[in-house]
Amino acid sequence: MYRLCYKSKSVLPLTWELVKEITNKSESSNSSVGLTGVLLASRTHFLQVIEGNFEDVNSVFRRICRDTRHDDLSLISFNVVDARLFAAWGMRGIGVFDLNNKLEAALKEKYGEEEGGLKFPLEEWAVLALINDLKMVSDLPSWKK
Ligand SMILES: Cc1cc2nc3c(=O)[nH]c(=O)nc-3n(C[C@H](O)[C@H](O)[C@H](O)COP(=O)(O)O)c2cc1C
Repeated sequence: MYRLCYKSKSVLPLTWELVKEITNKSESSNSSVGLTGVLLASRTHFLQVIEGNFEDVNSVFRRICRDTRHDDLSLISFNVVDARLFAAWGMRGIGVFDLNNKLEAALKEKYGEEEGGLKFPLEEWAVLALINDLKMVSDLPSWKK
C-alpha cells in the first residue's frame, strides 16, 4: 500500500462547483481501481492525498500532473504505508474556503496564511494533522458528501 501527497495551485479561483466536478468523476474512477483519498481546496490551492497500489497511485498521479486546471505542483510524499487512512473515501472533497471566521482564523494561526486563504503545508505530517483537524469539526459547513 502506498500513500502520495501533493500540493498544487489552481489556475482558476476555487469554487465548490470545480471541486465537485473533480471529485464526482474521481470517486467512480478511483473506486474502480481501489484508490482512496481526500482532496482539500483552499481559495487558491489543492492538497491531495491518494492511497492504493503503487501502479494505480502512480498512474493517476501522472494524469493529475497533466491536468491543465492546476500548476505549480509540489510532490510532498510518496511512501509505503501499512494501512489506508481514508478507506471509506473514494475521493472526498473538502473546501476550506467557506469556513466560519472563527475556525478559519484558528487554522490560519496554526498553519499560516497564503493569498488571503489558509496556507496548505508542504510536510506530510502537517498535511495529515490538518486533515485530522478538519475531520474533528463535524459541523463544518463545507463538508459535502
Ligand atoms: C486537483 C485534481 C485532483 C484530481 N484527482 C483525481 C483523482 O483522484 N482521480 C482521477 O481519476 N482523476 C483525478 N483528477 C482528474 C485527472 O487529472 C484527469 O482529468 C482524469 O483522471 C481523466 O484523465 P484522462 O482524461 O487522461 O482520462 C484530478 C484533477 C485535479 C485538477
